[in-house]
Amino acid sequence: MAPASSDVQRVPIDLGERSYPILIASGLIGDAQTYADLPRAQTALIVSNTTVAPLYAQALQTALASYYPRVLLLSLPDGESHKDWPNLQRIFDVLLEHGCDRKTVLFALGGGVVGDITGFAAASYMRGVPFVQVPTTLLAQVDSSVGGKTAINHPLGKNMIGAFYQPARVVCDLDVLTSLPARELSAGLAEIIKYGPIADMGFLDWIESHMPELLEREPRALGVAVRRSCEIKAGVVGLDEREAGLRAILNFGHTFGHAIEAGLGYGQWLHGEAVGCGMVMAALLSERLGLIDAALVARIRRLVQAAGLPVVGPQLSPTDNAGRYLELMRLDKKSEAGQIKFVVIEAPGRAGVRGAPDALVREVIDACCVPA
Ligand code: NAD
Ligand code: GLY
Repeated sequence: MAPASSDVQRVPIDLGERSYPILIASGLIGDAQTYADLPRAQTALIVSNTTVAPLYAQALQTALASYYPRVLLLSLPDGESHKDWPNLQRIFDVLLEHGCDRKTVLFALGGGVVGDITGFAAASYMRGVPFVQVPTTLLAQVDSSVGGKTAINHPLGKNMIGAFYQPARVVCDLDVLTSLPARELSAGLAEIIKYGPIADMGFLDWIESHMPELLEREPRALGVAVRRSCEIKAGVVGLDEREAGLRAILNFGHTFGHAIEAGLGYGQWLHGEAVGCGMVMAALLSERLGLIDAALVARIRRLVQAAGLPVVGPQLSPTDNAGRYLELMRLDKKSEAGQIKFVVIEAPGRAGVRGAPDALVREVIDACCVPA
């Protein structure tokens, strides 16, 4: 059922002429009103995947038909390994084979994988066409669809080829979260928890007291969590769109997390699982640097665990586990001249970026990983 307009929450992203709203409500995807006043064109192309398209593409196609004479659908294979050149090329192939002009609007219907590749296609097709994010995972609704980071993976590194390119709108339909596998829901909760220690301890309190409702997918609780997460991310992106500095705080837990993802092989742990465990490591590092007390570290660990996420890191090497983590973390995009930069909690609700001695990082890894 279409939401009453008063039930639709709007979070603005303030970026001058690139400003756009995030819409949050149940029932948005199939409601034609959701897409009113978007750029008009002869053609809309929905990019989705083989899991999400059968569930939600028909509703989106029908709603878009009110505005676009031709609505095309491209369903890509599902999975992180398909966020690559051949699938980017498939998007361009469809656009060119159908004679799509530079007004064509792309709609990304799926999780972060679909959102990232579609956004990059939109950034590059005919030097840029409008696109709309219709995120269908919790992680994509609270993080990846917002803020304009688009990318594909290279065999030598994740998200290495991409562009900053803002969508024209983000459409967060809470109803789609009902079909999400439990593991994916937990992965999204990791990115929600992240916003507490870096920006809003009141939100951390709220997440702690509402974790059962979130795990039960209670729509009101999910609506609050998605809205507050988007507000915090919108505030950060509005101040630092291209990550000159501040935006890096959104990567709390990601330096350790990316090492886990890469070290185990992509797909073994979900991104959100690795970030959850990475936040525990980054919190302990913050404590060892004398920035926060042990009680906050314990609180973050408890919350990550309550969300159904791992809190103990995997062994990445049988001989020198901490050394392998360090080696992988040096490849992080935040590293400068081989020095790893960590997002740390500088005080409850405030984050910053700094280096740390290898010996201290080794201690943290040893304390957080399963014994060899
Ligand atoms: P994903 O896109 O792979 O989706 C996870 C799984 O859930 C997939 O199998 C997908 O088909 C399925 N799915 C999606 N919606 C569903 C639904 N409603 N019902 C049932 N199944 C559904 O993973 P993700 O966690 O959404 O995104 C991870 C990606 O996002 C990574 O590539 C990561 O690099 C990227 N990312 C980007 C940013 C950014 O700022 N651009 C931020 C964080 C993560
Ligand atoms: N997910 C981190 C960022 O958007 O900057």
